[in-house]
Amino acid sequence: MIDDLWYKNAVIYCLDVSSFMDTTGDGVGDFQGLARRLDYLAGLGVTCLWLLPFQPTPDRDNGYDISDYYGVNSPHGTLGDFVEFTHEARVRGIRVIMDLVINHTSDRHAWFQQARADESSRYRDFYVWSKKKPRDANRGMVFPGVQKTTWTYDEKARAYYFHRFYDFQPDLDTSNPALQEELRKVMGFWLELGVDGFRVDALPFVIQNKRPDQGGGQRYEYLRDLREFLQWRTGDAVLLAEANITPDKDLSYFGDDGDRMHMMFNFQVNQNLFYALATTDVRPLTRALERTRVQAPTAQWAHFLRNNDELDLGRLTEAQRQRVFAAFGPDKDMQLYQRGIRRRLAPMLGGDQRRLEMAYSLMFTLPGTPVIRYGDEIGMGDDLSLPEREGARTAMQWSSAANGGFTLAKRSRVPVIADGPFGYAKVNVADQRRQPNSLLNWTERMIRMRKECPEIGWGTWRVLNAGVPGVLAMRYDWRGNALLAVHNLSAEAREATIRLTDLPGQPLINLLCEDHSRGDRRGTYKLELPPYGYGWYRVGSLTDLQTREPR
Ligand code: GLC
Repeated sequence: MIDDLWYKNAVIYCLDVSSFMDTTGDGVGDFQGLARRLDYLAGLGVTCLWLLPFQPTPDRDNGYDISDYYGVNSPHGTLGDFVEFTHEARVRGIRVIMDLVINHTSDRHAWFQQARADESSRYRDFYVWSKKKPRDANRGMVFPGVQKTTWTYDEKARAYYFHRFYDFQPDLDTSNPALQEELRKVMGFWLELGVDGFRVDALPFVIQNKRPDQGGGQRYEYLRDLREFLQWRTGDAVLLAEANITPDKDLSYFGDDGDRMHMMFNFQVNQNLFYALATTDVRPLTRALERTRVQAPTAQWAHFLRNNDELDLGRLTEAQRQRVFAAFGPDKDMQLYQRGIRRRLAPMLGGDQRRLEMAYSLMFTLPGTPVIRYGDEIGMGDDLSLPEREGARTAMQWSSAANGGFTLAKRSRVPVIADGPFGYAKVNVADQRRQPNSLLNWTERMIRMRKECPEIGWGTWRVLNAGVPGVLAMRYDWRGNALLAVHNLSAEAREATIRLTDLPGQPLINLLCEDHSRGDRRGTYKLELPPYGYGWYRVGSLTDLQTREPR
């Protein structure tokens, strides 16, 4: 059995071992370094880490091109270091989930090498081949503008192979039972080594029928197979899917009875949230929330602001996308793949701490589980001179020492941001620890508050009319407690008028500052919100501030 559905109120922190902390002095992060920083992460209050791929890889797509599923890429340490790390995380009550990249392997993977060399190899059918160039070879590229095709001719195999992503990432045919068995072993292996689940990479493509003779379509049954295997092996483990899909497909991924994915990233809400930040128009965000309301009690959304990829705006209308581009990525060089922005959050919001706090506060109060990207807790920036998505994958900035304290090596092998307003001299953990009002200390306080508000992860919710544009007001109800979150997305002060007619006369306790509000007898509350202001309120008496997690 899964322990109290722990993921419904987790605080997830996403990091890449590679760019987090180097202790061996080779200029690349490692598991020993990460283990040493676990107290920092525990202090911040995160309860679950999501590790980006760390297995052996030629590293042509940030490790999403795995050449061996059963190892640790040597600069990051050994399997022994990995197990020490998961042990240390467990001691601190922190869970660990890792990327499960099973849509494709690297072309260096032994399976692909054997598959291309020998048509009768048992690995041949792990991949997707065609003797003739398929008609749709110039369609369906995930990285348009960089990637030219989805079928590439391999001289050795004397056939075309299918690759949804770059040509060095041949797609696996997950409808093949022999491959399915291998992939179960991969999951079983890492579960034995102490992980609490997987972030399933590129899931819609994993379950797609890819062979030309299969005629397309998705194999949703495979989601249940993955879930069953995981849960039977480790009752407490979860699957968090990367599936950028339309809301009409949500149920197919969660399962009608919640028997497929436990969690999915909510890309629909993410894109409309950026539209709201750009325009202060919260109506499309409200619609996105409504359209992605989950039905099964065990299903949960993961909400995020920025992730390890570009900010994908592909689900917005062309006009909406242009508004977000104009606000947050006006230069062509800031945009990517004809649909997104490749900057980090802090530069997009002009480094304005009030606005960053409001954006994060809003994300923390979306119905689901928050996911923070490493470095966002201090407002790290990006380096757009790096190609594609690399600009937002620079080394963690620990201090104002050389290389931001990320490595003792003279030259870091992971790019470091040294100069400008987001350079490590200006933006780093050590300085922000000492400043009570830094973004870092603010984030720590907000995480504590988020944990004290389980209504957000568990409760039923609705969007309230705030009576004024640019303000999003949400109410959560759970076990007789009500919580209200109000966010002013605009740069001007606003007065929101909230009606809680079923709770007349009760005080509204501001959980973040001494600014309480008493409504009139009809349950109408007036809330003053400064520019980018926000408040989390509990309805009731001061002594009754906290609710408890279910036991
Ligand atoms: C996912 C990852 C991305 C990677 C791709 C291919 O979209 O988030 O970083 O490039 O899958 O594995």
